[in-house]
Amino acid sequence: MRAKATLNREFTISTVDKRVYGSFLEHMGRAVYTGIYEPGHAKADKDGFRTDVLDMVRDLDMPIVRYPGGNFVSAYHWEDGIGPRDQRPTRLDLAWRTRETNQVGINEFADWSKLANTEMMLAMNLGSRGLNDARNFLEYCNHPGGTYWSDLRAKHGYKNPHNVRIWCLGNEMDGPWQVGHKSAAEYGHLANEVSKAFKYFDKTLETVVCGSSNDKMKSYPEWEATVLDASYDSVDYISLHKYFGNEENDTLNYYAKAIELDRYIVTIGGVIDYIKAKKRSKRDVKICFDEWNVWYHDRKEDGERIASWDWPEAPPLLEELYNLEDAIFVASLINVFIRRSDRVKIACMAQLVNVIAPILTKAGGPAWRQSIYYPLQFASKYGRGTALTVSSSGPTYDCEVAQDVPYLDLSAVLHDDGKTIALFAINRSLDEAMDLSVDLQGFKGLKIVQHHVMTGEDLKARNAVENQERIVPRPGTGLSITDEGALIGALPAKSYHFILLSVASA
Ligand code: AHR
Repeated sequence: MRAKATLNREFTISTVDKRVYGSFLEHMGRAVYTGIYEPGHAKADKDGFRTDVLDMVRDLDMPIVRYPGGNFVSAYHWEDGIGPRDQRPTRLDLAWRTRETNQVGINEFADWSKLANTEMMLAMNLGSRGLNDARNFLEYCNHPGGTYWSDLRAKHGYKNPHNVRIWCLGNEMDGPWQVGHKSAAEYGHLANEVSKAFKYFDKTLETVVCGSSNDKMKSYPEWEATVLDASYDSVDYISLHKYFGNEENDTLNYYAKAIELDRYIVTIGGVIDYIKAKKRSKRDVKICFDEWNVWYHDRKEDGERIASWDWPEAPPLLEELYNLEDAIFVASLINVFIRRSDRVKIACMAQLVNVIAPILTKAGGPAWRQSIYYPLQFASKYGRGTALTVSSSGPTYDCEVAQDVPYLDLSAVLHDDGKTIALFAINRSLDEAMDLSVDLQGFKGLKIVQHHVMTGEDLKARNAVENQERIVPRPGTGLSITDEGALIGALPAKSYHFILLSVASA
């Protein structure tokens, strides 16, 4: 099959905010305990952080990490995780029916974030708690000193404030499963008041109000309209979540679900514009897609285990094993974030370690990368700059979730120095190579400087502790630049490509 795409240096979408390549770390399962933190492990540093995991996180060039939940945050007392470790209480975590020892809290997460070279995005509990506890949390984290909470932080060994810039106003408050779930009107009012209070403290802080937990919620998208109506003037982002899966075991239908993500963003973009117009506002609220990933392999079994277990401590939970098919699909989701970079300014792959994660560990053993690690890594390292409009034509298919789904999925980012362009290309076809031609208008002297491909016969193949590098990117072949300056070549069936082009001049 043949597909053609055209890019033009002058036809741009938006600057890609580097924070769209963020992640999420929740106190659940083995994300924190035996994930990032395992005192006594051969690779642990003096503070108990696993340096093998840190190396992998640093290799992702991770711009931002959301913490500490997730559903966990809606009954969390942040004060349980501060001060001398031997005095911290063990509590029941109602979200995952486990036991939380609080050996890691906000100060340890701040230390870890520095080592991981990432920014913290903190979520507050607006489920079982409210404004007062949230403002105390803020004062503990951000106030320099001379007050009860800031002096307490100094007493705990952290004289300098953590200076957290971005705060999530609760988590998935639309979900009936959430501890302290609220109606849209109740939540919108509370979120607005908390956001105002945070900005009385520091008007440069940014806040994220909860949108829908997914686009199949009955309350979607009315939830967003009601919540934004109450909070539009005081918040900066609206959070969206969505998890995907190939439950039907139909690969092409699975791949088409990237279109659902696109529609979701476009729909909420419309709701934002509607409320903006209704309020005659000049502000723009942006989208913070702070939970997205594939989550289906063991979802049902995990649900059953949670319901029947007896409050275990850091049990394996949601340890999905990702295959090549998932990696190609994740690359497609990232392409949507790049193409919608005018709306989406933050996105967090959920999660980072062990729990639906690109990095897996064995307690007392090694850490390794899952297949989905690599498309995130290529995008995070090379997908920063200005997203270019991609105009494409080629064969399409129909399936249950969408009609006219293109086999080609392409996004392009021009780097700020104007000297390199990153292309992220997918051939969704299961059996046919694609002859691709990309016309790059306005660029001269193009050269291919990197080409990596993820492909294979077996889409269900995956990495495992005993075979950690089965699904990895390999050097790509078969692409070239024509005298007219077009990129041409064949993309094999079932393949994802990262291509870096250098540009001599405009
Ligand atoms: O990431 C796992 C869970 O999914 C989070 O705790 C929750 O916010 C979402 O439902």
